[in-house]
Amino acid sequence: MAPPVPYLPGKEPHPREHRLIFKNVDRAGWDPSIDCYLADGGYEQLKKALAMEKSAIIGEVKASGLRGRGGAGFPTGVKWGFIPPANTKPVYLICNADESEPGTFKDRYIIHQDPHQLIEGMAISCYAVGAKLAYIYIREEFPEGAKILEKAIAEARARGFLGANILGSGFDCEIHVHRGAGAYICGEETGLIESLEGKRPYPRIKPPYFPAALGLYMCPTIVNNVESLCHVKHILQMGGAEYAKLGTPNNTGTRILCVSGDVQKPGYYEVEVGKVTMGEVIEDLCGGLKPGRKLKSIIPGGSSAKVLRAGDRYKLKDGRELGIMDIPMDFDTMAACGSMAGSGGVIVIDDSRSISWVLNNLNNFYAHESCGQCTPCREGSLWMKKITDRVVAGKASPADIDTLYGVAKNIDGRTICAFGEACSWPTESFVEKFRDELVADTKPELEGALVSAEPLTAAAGLR
Ligand SMILES: Cc1cc2nc3c(=O)[nH]c(=O)nc-3n(C[C@H](O)[C@H](O)[C@H](O)COP(=O)(O)O)c2cc1C
Ligand code: SF4
Repeated sequence: MAPPVPYLPGKEPHPREHRLIFKNVDRAGWDPSIDCYLADGGYEQLKKALAMEKSAIIGEVKASGLRGRGGAGFPTGVKWGFIPPANTKPVYLICNADESEPGTFKDRYIIHQDPHQLIEGMAISCYAVGAKLAYIYIREEFPEGAKILEKAIAEARARGFLGANILGSGFDCEIHVHRGAGAYICGEETGLIESLEGKRPYPRIKPPYFPAALGLYMCPTIVNNVESLCHVKHILQMGGAEYAKLGTPNNTGTRILCVSGDVQKPGYYEVEVGKVTMGEVIEDLCGGLKPGRKLKSIIPGGSSAKVLRAGDRYKLKDGRELGIMDIPMDFDTMAACGSMAGSGGVIVIDDSRSISWVLNNLNNFYAHESCGQCTPCREGSLWMKKITDRVVAGKASPADIDTLYGVAKNIDGRTICAFGEACSWPTESFVEKFRDELVADTKPELEGALVSAEPLTAAAGLR
């Protein structure tokens, strides 16, 4: 058995964690250099992959059950299989390192502390899908991460793990780092592709523009999240079937939960998918709520996920009924409870928070980040922000809450990209679950009054 990995004092993983992707994050004596990575068995899986049939690697990824860690939880092996079999165009791989979903902070730690894990995962993935050119699309706000990646790519190329004829296999592969200009919509895969092509990041409509068929330069393109691509290396190392024993059926492997908000120890925690409940995350991993506070609600999968209310009961198809603290942290149960596991960003909200303020904070973000391409999202995200600006400033009437809900419902399902859902789901779910609290922040005497929203953003204390 391998000796236990030593960690920096105070940074030791919680005993309930299962460190696979974050094994080297906060590791004592670890640095992001290729020498350190090679001394730990780095690039051995790339060597193994290059001796395998491409279809066998895709088969292992399918057998692993890996689901994308970028938000949608789509099975990675299935996505790779969507490249048209008769394709004659170049194939591209894009690593989505935009990490734009509020509440999510995992990819940046991989990039900063273990860049070669990502590069090895990408090189294996490129080989498997037949891509000779790959891009890491990294958000502008991570300049240090971009430099670390560029250095790591140069090191990998110098050692023959990238470039022409990798390790004498006849396989050529280059990875380039592309810095984004800093926009949430550049995390949406087709907006990202437009941006990479040098254009304004207007998302493309699907169908027909599913990237695996019509992606970068209208060629088949696999877009995967940083964490997803890192898993590929471990799947090869363990074998797909063995990897699938981690986690729970249909929700395999490990994933990194990023916990923020009103807990004693916010931070990142890598756990087997579905093996810990929401309660265990809050009570065990995060040391509980802040002293004397009560749980009000949780946004379980990044800011776009629908909010869950403490005290509610969630009925599942198999007859089980769960309280919020009993919900296992997996894709399927979270969806059955009416929300989503998304990007793994768990935002905990206690009874010290005003729901109106929280929703207004989210609405400010979405109004700012809409790309403006489609009317319901462009106008609606701004209207939602203006209404909650009024609520927070004490200038809204109770009827405004109905208008707010109506606006959200008219965005959802009527837009080019999933930003429409991302921006309307918070409002829909907050109004559905916390209508009374929102209405309590309004003033019946303002019914029908004309209120200018413009100066209210400042009053709401957000800008
Ligand atoms: C508005 C919006 C923002 C997104 N932001 C990100 C992001 O920052 N990082 C990411 O990996 N995926 C993001 N996604 C999901 C991507 O479109 C895409 O599904 C993902 O990169 C695929 O990788 P995966 O299959 O490995 O999860 C976003 C989606 C939407 C609709
Ligand atoms: S839904 Fe919003 S972000 Fe997406 S394309 Fe339409 S306007 Fe742009």
